[in-house]
Amino acid sequence: MLLAIPDVLSLDQINFARDQLNQAQWVDGLASAGYQGSQVKHNLQLPEERPEALALGDLILAMLERHPQFISAALPAVVYPPMFNLYGGGQHFGRHIDNAVRLLPGTGKKIRTDISATLFLSDPDEYEGGELQIVDTYGTHSVKLPAGHMVLYPSTSVHQVTPVTSGVRLASFFWVQSMIRDDAQRALLFSLDSSIQQLTASGADTQAVLQLTGNYHNLLRMWAEPV
Ligand code: NI
Repeated sequence: MLLAIPDVLSLDQINFARDQLNQAQWVDGLASAGYQGSQVKHNLQLPEERPEALALGDLILAMLERHPQFISAALPAVVYPPMFNLYGGGQHFGRHIDNAVRLLPGTGKKIRTDISATLFLSDPDEYEGGELQIVDTYGTHSVKLPAGHMVLYPSTSVHQVTPVTSGVRLASFFWVQSMIRDDAQRALLFSLDSSIQQLTASGADTQAVLQLTGNYHNLLRMWAEPV
């Protein structure tokens, strides 16, 4: 499931993040690439251990924890600490698939990457190119969202970031290990939850909504792998 989630960050939070990132010392993105990625990755990244990266990552995690659409769509078990990248001057990241397993910094624990996330921190009119192109069974989808908006997509997808030919593209990116490993099961639960929310808001029959809500939780119980 490919899903755009609007307004993860407020305007004040976006401006704060951009101020921090504009003063940050960036390094070559190859520092964190696997073998496959290293062949095609051309961008800059903020080292994960830098205080500004940790503080901004915590801010994003705090916003995600209370974002109903993110929780409903991702059903997160573990969220990788958000990282930050910068593309400019023709930089790009060619076609690749994200590593299946990543080490959580400073813990020795591992996370399975079920969902990949990009949170845009630049507005589309600030740069040319820089589209996140994601391939699924329906073809290739180009994603370029306003600052503060986020896209979620299955980590199993081939994807790329096209060259940024002018301006600068700032973004945060991270992964989610979901309680629901399978993308199709997760999409079904998200659809069911959305229906329940809509029926509740429309004042539908209480007993019917109760039964549907029970079905949602019983499916979740059947499939969930909490950590
Ligand atoms: Ni990637």
